[in-house]
Amino acid sequence: MNLRTIDNIDLRNKFVLLRDDFNVQIVDGQITDAFRIQQSMPTINKLREKGAKIAICAHLGRPKGTRNMEFTLAPVAEYMKIPLIPDCLDKDFLDTMKEGDVVLLENVRFYPGEEANDPAFAAELAKGFDVFVNDAFAVSHRAHASTVGVAEILPSYAGELLSSEIQHLSQVMENPKRPLLSIVAGSKISTKIGVLKALAKLSDMLIVGGALGTTFNYALGGKVGNSLYEADQKDTALEILEYAKENNCEVLLPLDKGVAKEFTRDATRTNKNFDEIEEDDIIIDAGEETTARDVAAIKTAATVIWNGTVGMAEWMPTWSYGSFELAKAIAEQTKAGKLESIVGGGDTVAALEACGVKDDITYVSTGGGAFLEFIEGRTLPGIAILEDK
Ligand code: 3PG
Repeated sequence: MNLRTIDNIDLRNKFVLLRDDFNVQIVDGQITDAFRIQQSMPTINKLREKGAKIAICAHLGRPKGTRNMEFTLAPVAEYMKIPLIPDCLDKDFLDTMKEGDVVLLENVRFYPGEEANDPAFAAELAKGFDVFVNDAFAVSHRAHASTVGVAEILPSYAGELLSSEIQHLSQVMENPKRPLLSIVAGSKISTKIGVLKALAKLSDMLIVGGALGTTFNYALGGKVGNSLYEADQKDTALEILEYAKENNCEVLLPLDKGVAKEFTRDATRTNKNFDEIEEDDIIIDAGEETTARDVAAIKTAATVIWNGTVGMAEWMPTWSYGSFELAKAIAEQTKAGKLESIVGGGDTVAALEACGVKDDITYVSTGGGAFLEFIEGRTLPGIAILEDK
């Protein structure tokens, strides 16, 4: 993929509209995970060094086209120590900007024209700017006004983070070191059918875990008690197993589970095999035998792609066991130079962070949905428009 980059363009004194993904978790006005903001800094710094005047456009949550202040970007502006422009269509601030100045525009999703990719809204947003830079990989799977609409109007380029995401993810998809082990977990098959198929085709081994794994167990006639699973996805699960077989991919399904009688953080944990699961048991984490087998598989792999936790990893320490053991094994092997590891998805990255191994992973993507769509091989509209054809 040949993207237009900001490397060789003169931006001195130019007004740059920069799209970043600052869709971060905020609790009581405080940012709890600034990973996406930190990863956006190289482009911001590069644009500043080039003498640009930078207005960052971003979204937070899903305010559905209304000015709902629950979704204000004020905590992000405060965290970054830059001014917040309360209306993303206000252009008055441009008059007073100097080279290297940076401001943050209020949530672009306060306007319905954003998600509708309304050309009139995109034109308003682009007005006053000389150049558009997209560094928001995580929202590039959305054809919105601030990802596609403005890129159709202004000369447009990829930022450093976006380029780096494409480079790392393309490399692992096109030329992975083998054996390649993929780990796909989380709650729903229905949101991951495409990625499961793509990885079943590409990988030598595929671990399916979490509630998603429970659905596979159910499809094969296993007991699932009162757990979360998707009965209506039985045929999809069987189809994916067949597809993996055709593609010589070994699928590793859950063997045993960490279960409880209630779905709470403090519930008492018991380890059970599938044939021991009772009607009122709720599966909340991977079991010990499953985890040991998965850790052993990680030790045989040369590349690991991981998306989705295998249990309620945020319910530490009881229910984070399975996900943390995987995270630690992947980190250890990577650190020892034996493994290339690629991890994406908010919950999975949070699990790496919580057990203190994020920095040991080869590449941690800022994308959630965008990461899955990219791996699936889909065209991301916010990226396609930055390609030199
Ligand atoms: C994300 O958090 O994955 C992106 O910012 C996209 O958010 P969205 O799913 O609300 O479009």
